[in-house]
Amino acid sequence: MIFRDAIPTDAVDIAKIQLTVWKQAYNKIFPEKFLQQMSYKDKIESNYKWLESLEKTTRVFVAEIKSKQLIGFSVGGLKREGDPLYKGELWGIYILNNYQRKGIGTELFKKVIQHLLNIKINSMLVWVLKDNPYRFFYEKLKGKFVREKQKEFNGLFRLIVSYGWLNIKNIFKN
Ligand SMILES: CC(C)(COP(=O)(O)OP(=O)(O)OC[C@H]1O[C@@H](n2cnc3c(N)ncnc32)[C@H](O)[C@@H]1OP(=O)(O)O)[C@@H](O)C(=O)NCCC(=O)NCCS
Repeated sequence: MIFRDAIPTDAVDIAKIQLTVWKQAYNKIFPEKFLQQMSYKDKIESNYKWLESLEKTTRVFVAEIKSKQLIGFSVGGLKREGDPLYKGELWGIYILNNYQRKGIGTELFKKVIQHLLNIKINSMLVWVLKDNPYRFFYEKLKGKFVREKQKEFNGLFRLIVSYGWLNIKNIFKN
């Protein structure tokens, strides 16, 4: 397994991970029709454009297995809105089902932490669906509940919650 920065041609594998994980992980949160409507082709196109023109403060890390297939990715950068206490944000982290609970998510999380520290950011926030059972991943990593709000997902409203870390240097200290 290697961890590296994403390049534009990773758009295809990243789209596969996004759609597969959404369908597996969020099938009790969104109706099946909503999840089935997500377009693989559109996702590849938007990922390609996004990866080609990433801002300097944003980094996308991927986990690649021997066959060169990508099985997970994480994205980190500047916080996108609100909550002045937190300067950085984990924008997303996704691991294919068969590779979960093997420590890969923690490694991709660490990559984002290191990136934020490199650009002199010491605090971080993440938003996650309130009903997402995977949010305990952030609690295990010492994230503190910050607040909740409604978010629209293509016409459907769901509660999302944020977890924050005021000092990301301390996360992996005992
Ligand atoms: C959440 C996610 C990124 C975690 O990655 P991972 O590689 O499975 O996580 P790790 O193996 O590093 O887990 C570290 C610890 O987090 C906790 N954890 C992870 N997933 C958990 C879950 N579903 N329920 C409860 N605790 C969980 C555990 O304590 C785990 O340690 P353990 O396996 O020794 O008990 C991954 O499972 C995933 O992609 N989930 C679906 C998508 C998603 O919801 N992403 C987050 C929202 S943006």
